[in-house]
Amino acid sequence: MSQLLKGKIGIITGALDENSIAWKVAEKVYEHGGKFILSNAPVAMRLGKINELAAKCNTEVIAADATLVEDWEKLINETTSKMGGKLDFVLHSIGMSPNVRKGKHYTDLNYDWYVKSLDISALSFHKFLQTAMKLDAMNEWGSVVGLSYMAAQRVFPDYGDMADAKAVLESIARGFGYHYGVAKKVRVNTISQSPTKTTAGTGVGGFDVFFDYADKMSPLGNASAEDCANFCVALFSDLTRMVTMQNLYHDGGFSSTGISAGVIEQITK
Ligand SMILES: NC(=O)c1ccc[n+]([C@@H]2O[C@H](COP(=O)([O-])OP(=O)(O)OC[C@H]3O[C@@H](n4cnc5c(N)ncnc54)[C@H](O)[C@@H]3O)[C@@H](O)[C@H]2O)c1
Repeated sequence: MSQLLKGKIGIITGALDENSIAWKVAEKVYEHGGKFILSNAPVAMRLGKINELAAKCNTEVIAADATLVEDWEKLINETTSKMGGKLDFVLHSIGMSPNVRKGKHYTDLNYDWYVKSLDISALSFHKFLQTAMKLDAMNEWGSVVGLSYMAAQRVFPDYGDMADAKAVLESIARGFGYHYGVAKKVRVNTISQSPTKTTAGTGVGGFDVFFDYADKMSPLGNASAEDCANFCVALFSDLTRMVTMQNLYHDGGFSSTGISAGVIEQITK
């Protein structure tokens, strides 16, 4: 295994259990020689298996609620002091919508929950970036990646207010990517990932159907969490130094396909 991330230091958020995209990213980054702190919301640490992952990756976990700037400050400061240097890579793998979780239709949103969805799933990305910049916690050519979904561009009726959150997330990657690039040459991108069988993914109504549909539509089939982890390693590495402010489709070709033979066959059957 090549050591693409040897000598690099980072933070990986959002690993809940072995299905989480962040879990696979942590395993791959570890294989590639990267050192990192794991983080998740305090409640997820009680419910999930993150300590198991920490043991496997020879690291530790620092709890942080991504909606709280003071938690980001603590996480960033403790990581740089424990690891003995500034950050080279950060994965934001955080998403949750109380409306989606509780089955509230997009035309009947609870607005307190809507604000929560946006805060957890999108503004938290800005909160991390702004805090890191103020603390001057990232090395030059560092790389920050957030995980998005195609519902930011196209309607998937059951994705509800998470679609709005993803549109904001992608916009933050562009907006902050500009400023962080100019100030410190830090890269900021989002990966628009195929439907993936995780706790967050399967919480969306009709998930199995749109997972199968996307799989049939995509010339390469759906990208797995492990594929996504490989892509994250590439984006954290020095091989992608000039890639920033992008929303990068990692979807087996779904986003460029109008219709596929597999879908036609299914409909005409
Ligand atoms: N699964 C999919 O189909 C899919 C597709 C595209 C993008 N994504 C995105 O990938 C990311 C990771 O999701 P996943 O599919 O691995 O599911 P997951 O449920 O394993 O991960 C979501 C994580 O967000 C964390 N989280 C929620 N609220 C938080 C808070 N206040 N502070 C800190 N952490 C908090 C959860 O504890 C959990 O670990 C999300 O942004 C999700 O929207 C998922």
